[in-house]
Amino acid sequence: MPRLLLLPGDGIGPEVTAESRRILDALALPGLEIAEAAFGGASIDAHGVPLTDSVLEEALASDAVLMGAVGGPKWADVAYDRRPEAGLLKLRARMDVYANLRPARCFAALADASSLKRELVEGLDILFVRELVGGVYFGEPRGIETLPDGQRRGFNTQSYTTSEIRRVARVAFELARGRTGKVCSVEKANVMESGVLWREEVQKLRDEAYPDIALSHMYADNCAMQLVKAPLQFDVILTDNLFGDLLSDLAAMSTGSLGMLPSAALGDAGRPGLYEPIHGSAPDIAGQGAANPCASILSLAMALRHSLGAADAADRVERAVEAALDAGARTRDLGGTLGTAAMGDAILALL
Ligand code: IPM
Ligand code: MG
Repeated sequence: MPRLLLLPGDGIGPEVTAESRRILDALALPGLEIAEAAFGGASIDAHGVPLTDSVLEEALASDAVLMGAVGGPKWADVAYDRRPEAGLLKLRARMDVYANLRPARCFAALADASSLKRELVEGLDILFVRELVGGVYFGEPRGIETLPDGQRRGFNTQSYTTSEIRRVARVAFELARGRTGKVCSVEKANVMESGVLWREEVQKLRDEAYPDIALSHMYADNCAMQLVKAPLQFDVILTDNLFGDLLSDLAAMSTGSLGMLPSAALGDAGRPGLYEPIHGSAPDIAGQGAANPCASILSLAMALRHSLGAADAADRVERAVEAALDAGARTRDLGGTLGTAAMGDAILALL
């Protein structure tokens, strides 16, 4: 029996996840078991920690986990290692979902909602493969210390090993084979040794096992510029945890809205996947029923495809989202007036 765990989380997380739940109910997949648990700030409120051991165990025993969003001003004062985001980082690390797939697609109907000119984004279809459980997010040593002269010093460590680089690069190369065969690997080899190693290992793996892949390398600052100047040049972008975080937000806006972008975080074959919209908990609009549920619903589609053995259902969901957009359904972030549930209705009607 495939198992899906929903972790709605905080802010707009529960609102958008509820729409995914309605889609799931409408799909009525035979044998799919669905569970739901508190996570992030909601778990801090109930249990004092953002991720309890039992929820972690449940996640590890599921095939897919669909998360909403975590965090918000309410938890600004909790201890740093117990903040909602720490729960998310722990979940990613313990699930060992090292390859974060973030597809930035510009739906035809949304080309005018983009912050870039239509001709720059029409047909845009970039797949970010972001390393998710290493780099500066997790590197040691880290902390804030007080120096003898009384100043304080904050420090983090960017670090990558050969195997950490190779396993995520392999995912990027494999996925590129099903697309245009082009991978652009992004780092800052001009200032960081971890970037030098990244570039060398990615190139080595390409030469050893993926000679059919057209691999290029780009510095992260130039990549940011190119993503705004000529985003259509990219197909698969392979990058580290921090650069992937920044660049995927940047690319999201050229697709029309941060509210449109899903993600899938995958580990080794057979291990559970973690699916989440790339947007945050948006405390400013939480509770108003105004959030765009598309990123959550498209994340659900990725879960159906990559972890739940339901590729046909995934196609159906993606087609319904696209059809709803074609029919003019728009939430506020897309320049329209529909609320979360009305957008869900529009998608459900076309499922
Ligand atoms: C993301 C988010 C997270 C990250 C936060 C919430 C920890 O920005 O998934 O892009 O930085 O990875
Ligand atoms: Mg981010």
